Amino acid sequence: MGGQEVVAHRGASAERAEHTLGAYQVALDQGADALECDVRVTRDGHLVCVHDRRVDRTSTGRGVVSELTLGAMSRLDFAQWHHELPDSADDLVFEPRASPVGGASQRRILTFDELLGLVRAQSRPVRLFAETKHPVRYGGLVEAKLTAALARHGISAPAHKDDSPVVMMSFSAAAVRRFRANAPGVPTVLLFDRASRAVRAGELPRWADLAGPSVRLLRRDPGLARRLAARGRDTYCWTVDDAADVELCRRAGVRFVATNRPGATRARLAGS
Ligand code: G3P
Ligand code: CA
Repeated sequence: MGGQEVVAHRGASAERAEHTLGAYQVALDQGADALECDVRVTRDGHLVCVHDRRVDRTSTGRGVVSELTLGAMSRLDFAQWHHELPDSADDLVFEPRASPVGGASQRRILTFDELLGLVRAQSRPVRLFAETKHPVRYGGLVEAKLTAALARHGISAPAHKDDSPVVMMSFSAAAVRRFRANAPGVPTVLLFDRASRAVRAGELPRWADLAGPSVRLLRRDPGLARRLAARGRDTYCWTVDDAADVELCRRAGVRFVATNRPGATRARLAGS
């Protein structure tokens, strides 16, 4: 993989409600090279794009994703934000919105199939970085369903990893290894916020194609991406929103820059 690419984290999620069609369409309009999504499974076995374990923060409903059916989730509005603190410090960039934007189709839950369809329908190459959550509980079910979805779209065996329209990610080594076993030609990212001694030296496990450090980690160790690159591994860094962090990624040679602000980040990387 060559050149720096902007990955729209949950879509253009600083401007639109995360993981909605509206957020992804804005990201594409802003020229994002790739989209990022989190994937969970509903009670009736559908893959949906949602970050939290519960729907409370990001929708008009309440409850745990794995205990709700897709039908029930489809009736919720995911662009009418609730005012609860997000899960992680990285999410503190999000501001609850007073009023939702866009029509009903832009505000409801997206299935993974729908998002993949959107990516595949673009007239230019766009990648999808898909992150699986809580993989241990399901013992490989989510990864198997993701692999089946790629097969349905005819993209589970790209001729070259560089050209793969989909990249699979997880903080879980077990999940990344399962992806590798299920679809060896699809690139994988091992996400992390702390690095082992081996990773700090630039060594990744063979089943992970890319390293996925947080920007917090890169701030502490700006040479990490170069050491990984010296051993043939590209870097995906998250979540990169302010000007100093974008500049850090540019200088550090980060290959994929995941941001909630794809338009501004793209302009900054281009030096405009
Ligand atoms: O892109 C990786 C990043 O999204 C991981 O953190 O919590 O935003 O899914 P989180
Ligand atoms: Ca994510």
